[in-house]
Amino acid sequence: MTETDYHQIRTAATAVPTGCPVDHAFTPLMPAYVEAPYPIANRMRDEAPVAWAPELGFVVVSRMDLVTEVFLNPDVYSSENVQDPVFPICEEAAAILADPSFCPVAVMSNRQEPDHGRIRQFTKNGFTNRRNKVLEPYIRRRAEELIDEMIAEGSPADFIAAVGQPLPGEVVFKFMGFPEADYSQLKEWCGDRLAFSWGQPSAEEQVAIAEKMVAYWQYVQEFTAAKKGNPADDFASELLADHEAHPDDLTYREVESILYGLSFAGHEPVTLLLGNALSTLLPRRDDWDALCADRDLIANALEEVIRLDTPQIGWRRIANCDTTLGGVDILKGTQVYLNLAAANHDPDEFPDPESFDIHRRDARNNISFGKGKHFCLGVRFAKFEAKIVLEVLTEKLPSLRLAGGHEFETFPNISFRGPTRLDIAWD
Ligand code: HEM
Repeated sequence: MTETDYHQIRTAATAVPTGCPVDHAFTPLMPAYVEAPYPIANRMRDEAPVAWAPELGFVVVSRMDLVTEVFLNPDVYSSENVQDPVFPICEEAAAILADPSFCPVAVMSNRQEPDHGRIRQFTKNGFTNRRNKVLEPYIRRRAEELIDEMIAEGSPADFIAAVGQPLPGEVVFKFMGFPEADYSQLKEWCGDRLAFSWGQPSAEEQVAIAEKMVAYWQYVQEFTAAKKGNPADDFASELLADHEAHPDDLTYREVESILYGLSFAGHEPVTLLLGNALSTLLPRRDDWDALCADRDLIANALEEVIRLDTPQIGWRRIANCDTTLGGVDILKGTQVYLNLAAANHDPDEFPDPESFDIHRRDARNNISFGKGKHFCLGVRFAKFEAKIVLEVLTEKLPSLRLAGGHEFETFPNISFRGPTRLDIAWD
């Protein structure tokens, strides 16, 4: 059993491919892409579906069949780089994270086989329909409370601050078994992980984030130790029971590290999904009215939101060996950027891909949750939570709309996309 650090803080140098089309300008951080990614992503997919982007230092893969090929070949394309900072981090932040007391290990998204499969087999037990059912009353009650509080404050409101940000954090913390009294502190510690692994934080920001990561890791260690003697009906207790029953197959450090990683995986993308759902649905009045009239339409409408405006626009891999992709030679060590946004708009997969159709039959064929061995474990959880929020909103606020003068604001990074603020109004 070999363990690797959760965040490899020294960004690996990529191998530079030869004979590959080059896109000199592209990086997902360029302002034009942050503002409107789809025209650029679509053009790259259609003109050069495998292209070297020197500004980013990655080969960008944009066609659905090629993105799928990469996901389905984990021996050729390793996921070990998915949690690493995109750019080298400053010495001060690196020194904070080098402290021996900060020792989470790679467990899921960035762990390789056979250990990944060994750990996933235990983790997936926690993501059953039974756990969704146990959580449902809590999700619905908190969604209703937060929405009622927003209504009481009066129209207009920032949906992200009122509901989209707090709810997914609370739900995943509840799922894991963290005490409710700790939620606001936990949010404070976990909030900037997006910037650390996928953005371009300043040196000062990196130091602040590193300190929070260390504080959160210490919290997880203390929480896990306390939970050991005090189990309850939650995910952390299930993992600890699995560890006690199979100590050689799921180590104690792995249990701690799973809890460390889920605080981000189970939280931020759902916030973005909720924001994308409203920013897509509210301007399309007929669609919103249709959902208010028939809530059974919500599930497929959400699939179509996840396809058209995915919360996860890109993901990473690194080539484990020399190979060929779409006729392009890829050298061992090449960093690969999977453009999920472009693949979700691939006309060979989705007819008329730019149109939003809440009845689209194959919307759930989107690639936003990945594919293959690392396919998102929280997929049902995320959709279930978002569906409940839309059910409550369509019940309570059928007149909901985007507030006048609303402007889309998002956080520049290479992998996640959704509004950081969403001004909504109602009658
Ligand atoms: C809309 C929300 C979400 C999106 C778009 C999303 C997307 C993804 C993607 C693209 C991956 C990587 C797949 C790969 O590398 O092949 C992933 C992995 C993962 N996700 Fe999600 N996710 C979401 C919500 C959640 C939630 C709510 C949880 C947990 C509560 C979660 C837990 C995980 C875990 C544990 C993995 C790693 C699985 C593995 O490596 O075996 N995700 N997710």
